Amino acid sequence: MVPIPMGGRARAGGAGDVYAACMPSPGTVVSVINYKGGVGKTTLAANIGAEVARRGRRVLLVDLDPQASLTFSFYRPREWEQRLADSSTILQWFGSVLDAGTPDPLHKYVLTPPAVNEIIARHGPGQLDLVASHLELVDVDLDFAAALGGSRFQRGSPRYLRLHRALADALEDPQFQAYDVILVDCPPNFTMVTRTGIVASEHILVPAKPDYLSTLGIDYLRRKISELVSDYNRVVGPAGTQINPTILGVVLTMIQYGSGGPINAQRNYIAQPSSIEVPVFQQGIRENKTLFGPTGEEGIPAVLTPNANPTVQYELQQLASEFLAKIRI
Ligand SMILES: Nc1ncnc2c1ncn2[C@@H]1O[C@H](COP(=O)(O)OP(=O)(O)OP(=O)(O)O)[C@@H](O)[C@H]1O
Ligand SMILES: [Mg+2]
Repeated sequence: MVPIPMGGRARAGGAGDVYAACMPSPGTVVSVINYKGGVGKTTLAANIGAEVARRGRRVLLVDLDPQASLTFSFYRPREWEQRLADSSTILQWFGSVLDAGTPDPLHKYVLTPPAVNEIIARHGPGQLDLVASHLELVDVDLDFAAALGGSRFQRGSPRYLRLHRALADALEDPQFQAYDVILVDCPPNFTMVTRTGIVASEHILVPAKPDYLSTLGIDYLRRKISELVSDYNRVVGPAGTQINPTILGVVLTMIQYGSGGPINAQRNYIAQPSSIEVPVFQQGIRENKTLFGPTGEEGIPAVLTPNANPTVQYELQQLASEFLAKIRI
């Protein structure tokens, strides 16, 4: 891990607001989530993260998915197995959360993937870090359920808040104030691990393919998030820290273009999120099986891959600009 200097962004403040100008603020935490699998969550987390870092920002990616695709976007499986799996992934950190004592500081698990950072360093002071995942994270939900005293996450359990807030609390560590953006790649489900991501987030980004199932799930996801938020805030009570993650927007991915724009079969689905009044990013990402396929350069997201399709790279860059504007950094 490359050490990150302390300091971070100053809070926005008016001229002369010396206190505000000196106070470091934590990075903006955004969870990338959709129930539907294979819609581009991991691809967008990796590419937005890499592009924002290329522009000189400090970005942390947190891989909460037991499939560990985000982790394997930056490390070869063999390297992961030999160097990271036993002691340097979020599995060990969640283990420490579930132990009765004080959890390990999460910053102990931060990695700096080399290949992508070599490219980022050519452009400026940005950095892209990663908390890696583990295939056995799939079992952690059972441990969470046991710790909460039942499979339905009993709200009366005194451990409810501590476990739901685990990631949020960990990210309050001053070490994380050096990041401008923290992107959390969630699995395609709503298990306890995913819930820790949502509770820690200011915003939710929802990638969706323009097809029936991907867009159908958006309304359901919105309801589930709002149920979690109201349950959580009720348990915290008015005196506690309430949460209010907002849906930053739906990003349409894998759009297929014909000569006159997106193909007919996808047009209705592209309009679908707006029709249920969910914000939608103006910039979508077209389908490109070469750039996002297995021939992609190892350890380097498409947006930074040298000599890659310029149209898709342009779309990813525009998406990153829109993302930064929406989170106001
Ligand atoms: N714009 C695109 N064009 C073509 N293929 C793409 C595009 N975006 C992503 N893919 C490919 O689609 C597959 C699924 O993408 P990705 O892993 O990002 O989805 P996901 O939502 O994270 O999936 P999961 O729910 O399994 O975590 C991957 O093989 C990825 O390389
Ligand atoms: Mg994924």
